[in-house]
Amino acid sequence: MNRRILVTCALPYANGPIHIGHMVEHVQGDIWTRAMRMAGHTVHFVCADDAHGTPIMLRAQREGITPEQLIADSSRLHQADFRDFGIAYDHYSTTNSATNKALTIRIYEALRDAGHVESKPVRQFYDPDREIFLPDRFIKGECPHCHAKDQYGDSCEVCGKTYAPTDLIDPYSVISGARPVEKESVHYFVRLADFEPMLRAWLDERRAAGGLQGEVVNKLEEWFTDGLRSWDISRDAPYFGFELPDAPGKFFYVWLDAPVGYLASFSEFAAEAGIDVDAFIEDDAAAKAGTEMVHIIGKDITYFHTLFWPAMLHGSGLRTPSAVYVHGFLTVNGAKMSKSRGTFINARTYLDHLDPDYLRYYLAALLGPTLADLDLDFRAFEERVNSHLVGKWVNIASRCAGFLHKQFDGRMAGVIDADLRTRYDDAAKRLEACASLYEKREYAHAMRTIMAVADETNAWIAEKAPWKMARDESQHEQMHQVCSMAINLFRLLSAWLKPVVPATAARAEAFLATEATHFADVREPLAGHALAPFQPLLTRVDPKSIETMIEASKDHLKPETGAAQAPAPAAKPDAGPATIGIDDFARLDLRVGRVVACEHVEGADKLLRFELDAGDIGMRQIFSGIKAAYPEPEKLVGRNVVFIANLAPRKMRFGLSEGMILSAGEGGSDLKVVEVDPSAAPGASVR
Ligand code: MSP
Ligand code: ZN
Repeated sequence: MNRRILVTCALPYANGPIHIGHMVEHVQGDIWTRAMRMAGHTVHFVCADDAHGTPIMLRAQREGITPEQLIADSSRLHQADFRDFGIAYDHYSTTNSATNKALTIRIYEALRDAGHVESKPVRQFYDPDREIFLPDRFIKGECPHCHAKDQYGDSCEVCGKTYAPTDLIDPYSVISGARPVEKESVHYFVRLADFEPMLRAWLDERRAAGGLQGEVVNKLEEWFTDGLRSWDISRDAPYFGFELPDAPGKFFYVWLDAPVGYLASFSEFAAEAGIDVDAFIEDDAAAKAGTEMVHIIGKDITYFHTLFWPAMLHGSGLRTPSAVYVHGFLTVNGAKMSKSRGTFINARTYLDHLDPDYLRYYLAALLGPTLADLDLDFRAFEERVNSHLVGKWVNIASRCAGFLHKQFDGRMAGVIDADLRTRYDDAAKRLEACASLYEKREYAHAMRTIMAVADETNAWIAEKAPWKMARDESQHEQMHQVCSMAINLFRLLSAWLKPVVPATAARAEAFLATEATHFADVREPLAGHALAPFQPLLTRVDPKSIETMIEASKDHLKPETGAAQAPAPAAKPDAGPATIGIDDFARLDLRVGRVVACEHVEGADKLLRFELDAGDIGMRQIFSGIKAAYPEPEKLVGRNVVFIANLAPRKMRFGLSEGMILSAGEGGSDLKVVEVDPSAAPGASVR
């Protein structure tokens, strides 16, 4: 039966790079899509960037660009990463699109008109300096339970307790350092409890038809028992997102329009490709057409996808998900990805050093239909890729292709011996089990099946030893049979591996001079077929590349514009500093800056990010390489420092640095900021 399926992966946030953790998701979505297509199903595979929200708006402000610019840049990079990893999206859109806006408003209005939306005032923290309501993650303070300092507004990383930001002791705004004030504002809520009967029915349906993992079903039951709380779907201006059509100054919370992006992206694609959109997204039409919608997501966003999302869809006459497949998180070398250890590896950094098919295969060999976390252990990675892909699979072709080219002009045997034919049918039948393994997302099991057949093939070739036959003229016909069958078995294995390692499989197919678009295409062996010259298909993993990749992932300190940060050439030892005139000194605009915020910079080994109040000349953001001297940077808040105000601003990877703070010392933990009497006015000239 031909299934028609819309498949999606979670939409990555536009304010960060794609990293290898994301690839767990996109690789499995891509393998599933490719395998289902090869099994004869119709699959549409779409994604988009999740482009809205406060963090994106603030980052754009810090970098001095518009959010539109930021998300356009990010989308370009994300798409290049996915393309180079062989993720075959039919369409990659953005949630900041006209299509998404129209669909979001349709959903909102349907919910509102059916009485599921209510508005009520809420008290929330507000940054009086920046005039913006603060999301929980932008407020820090002392944990009300264990009194750990500098904990986020939603939970404490030290004792693990969760709380409201208003419970924090001595809260401060991460953006400005100011003490947030509580301010009231009207928010819009979707009454999720209205949908409980519908959600339970959806759950029962999924229980009967499949589409939710057991662990997810249990979680849902738990959430029902806890009671479904209303969902706050609005945020106040300034916010980068869509404005509510009936409430100026109120914007949809990013998580409202984000999943709608699945449908918007698909709609755009369907319109271009001449596919009937309604048959995939409208409730009635989809039911009639029997289409499916499958979401692949990480475990952290299950609540959004299994409660809010089905409710929103149902409430607006749209189809609900047929399946939400949840996966675990990627760890590297047994630990959470870490920037200091160099294991927080961006997709691009990986691609600069290693073949994407290595990671695709490694992940496939680990993946199953569970929520278990996966570990990228680089020793196992190297061992598995080299021994399985290169040693077992590619090896079959590389050891037999030469004989066919040398002795038989690259032509495979025209008639296949009966016992060899049986061998082929046998292998083909065993590999056919992989179709349902792929379908059930039993990727690791499928890889074991494929590698078992590859092992047997290699053992059989070793037993036949065509290299010995080559030395005996009378055995040449038999050698032709053996090598031809070996290549046939290689072709069979290549077809079944193709969803996992598409680029390497494409090179294999160039050599085979034939292509498999469906698994069924390899049911019959090739006879009398002419092969193309053999080219190396895949080289072994070079452990040095892994090392340099990890090194490259450690250093995020490099500025984007080269020379500006280069250290000044050292003065000659005996020369002594040359004298300057007073005019030279006067060219420096030195000022007093009062530190309003000072914090670590994610991914930077040496930097602290300062926000300085410089009086008349406004606020300045400056990155300074003095992290080692100040393990508790927040302690600098409130102090007066000296900075160069007329240094050309420099765009760094983390944002714009608008000046330079003066420090004294040799470097490292010895580098201390130059302080000014606390009574000096912010912005005062230092002369
Ligand atoms: N923008 C939201 C999703 C909106 S979907 C309508 C989001 N973005 S994200 O960039 O933070 O994460 C995107 C996906 O990547 C999520 O499914 C998340 O679980 C997954 N992963 C992020 N880090 C991961 C690992 N380290 N390992 C595996 N998956 C990870 O959430
Ligand atoms: Zn605590």
